[in-house]
Amino acid sequence: MTSENKKESYSLLYKQVTSLLTDESDAVAAMANMSAMIHNTMGFWWTGFYRVSARELLLGPFQGPVACMHIGYGKGVCGTAWKERRTVVVPDVEQFPGHIACSSESRSEIVVPVIQHGAVVAVLDIDSRELGTFDDIDAEWLEKMVLLLPTLGVERDIYLAAGCFWGAEKYLKLIEGVTFTEVGFANGNTDNPTYKEVYTDQTGYAETVHLRYNPDVVSLRFLLEMYFKAIDPTSLNKQGEDEGTRYRTGIYYCDLVDRVVVDEVVAEEAKKYGLPLQVEVEPLRNFHRAEEYHQDYLDKNPSGYCHLPVALFELAKKAKDME
Ligand code: SME
Repeated sequence: MTSENKKESYSLLYKQVTSLLTDESDAVAAMANMSAMIHNTMGFWWTGFYRVSARELLLGPFQGPVACMHIGYGKGVCGTAWKERRTVVVPDVEQFPGHIACSSESRSEIVVPVIQHGAVVAVLDIDSRELGTFDDIDAEWLEKMVLLLPTLGVERDIYLAAGCFWGAEKYLKLIEGVTFTEVGFANGNTDNPTYKEVYTDQTGYAETVHLRYNPDVVSLRFLLEMYFKAIDPTSLNKQGEDEGTRYRTGIYYCDLVDRVVVDEVVAEEAKKYGLPLQVEVEPLRNFHRAEEYHQDYLDKNPSGYCHLPVALFELAKKAKDME
């Protein structure tokens, strides 16, 4: 296909996709028809979406042969486009280190990130059976095309270390918009740590709450502001009576875009205290879910130990992100 033909095809396709998707609010329906239209008009080998789900990409609507269902952050062409938040054009898949071959027929590939509200929520992946199929023209039109998708409503994740995770989980899960919590150990240096090992303070892990939230209901900013109400951010490795590096405070993010909000909130809090804060801010390197008896500990043991005052739980129940 000449460049001129390609531009013409995309221009017509773009108009058709626009008219078909106008007024469609369901992202899955839109992704399904968008992939069908691109696939059939352009004659590609595989055309489809992977959606961001926690720390991996999950197969979404597509056209073409059976494909891999899970792709890790930074893995393959898709995971690279996600991590680097940019379109990746691969003229020869064999020359791309770490390319994931779902089909041995695929020779060249393009992956376009779908960015909504500043976060990568999915990627559009297209494979061709010929070498060098994709170039800047494809990138330009496909980047325009994915802007036509409605909001995916993908839930987001953040990992917060706030001292003893029993009380921290109870408090954070009461906030409206938080849809899932679990407790575990983050950013340490050993494989599959147990609570007992972490308790020695020799593993580098922090007791951490993994939060999943619906960004349409609660913003990361609001969650972080609530988090700061439940910690003493000036205290190093000590919250309440609990002392040790495992009780350090920390904000561990999965997506670099979150760093901007985290830094803003931390700077605002630092101003309030006029002291340097001891809250660690890092990308999440690893997280291991703690043993089952630690999950929802205070629900299972209402009179169990908790370093947080009861009033905080009342505050969390009533808190509402008004933005
Ligand atoms: N080749 C992709 C995997 C997905 S399939 O092409 C459908 C990659 O390396 O990420």
